[in-house]
Amino acid sequence: MNTVKLRIRRYLPDSGQAYWQEYQVPAGPDETVLSALLYIREHLDSTLAFRFSCRYKHCGLCGMEINGRARLACLTRLKAENTIQPLPKLPVIRDLVVDRQVITSLLDGIRASWQEGFQPGGKVLEPPGRRRLAACNECLCCLSYCPGYQGESSFGGPLVFARLAWYFLHPADGGDRPLEAIGLGIHRCQDCPGCRCLRGIPVFREGVRPLLAAAGIGHAG
Ligand code: FES
Repeated sequence: MNTVKLRIRRYLPDSGQAYWQEYQVPAGPDETVLSALLYIREHLDSTLAFRFSCRYKHCGLCGMEINGRARLACLTRLKAENTIQPLPKLPVIRDLVVDRQVITSLLDGIRASWQEGFQPGGKVLEPPGRRRLAACNECLCCLSYCPGYQGESSFGGPLVFARLAWYFLHPADGGDRPLEAIGLGIHRCQDCPGCRCLRGIPVFREGVRPLLAAAGIGHAG
């Protein structure tokens, strides 16, 4: 058993204090950042706040910036030294917990219009890419990699466009997804096919591009 170092960005909303705090944690060779955070909370500091649920890549709640990149804590192996911060571009509620509201309210709106516009027996169109889009676990890590997303609600970003496309490509969808996508700034994506998804979903090819094409916006990529 080795000892690893975790340098964690803390934020305490009551006092407004933001600072770095270091912890030393015993760790075996295959242990993850999430297991170290759980150790800290159980044995060293019960005030450290972070989100998790499934403990293995499904819930998408443990997204955070680890050693400079957005990753899932439950899938990231510990190094000898680890620098951990909340996901960038989103408001911080406390420590490693970010406010997901800006994205969840957009997703709620999309789901509501799906329920209103559901048309069984409507258009017949379900390319294989739709199944790949369904693998999104809404971890929000893609927002960190998207150069266009800066935290504003006027631009959807990769996750929201992937969800819009997922509905758009459903045979029974009755909503006007291309119009919704334009309202959320998808035209800004036409020069940037650079979406990055931790689950390997080809967001631009299977999500953004069909919406751009349906909206009559060309893309050379
Ligand atoms: S704890 Fe669920 S994805 Fe990491």
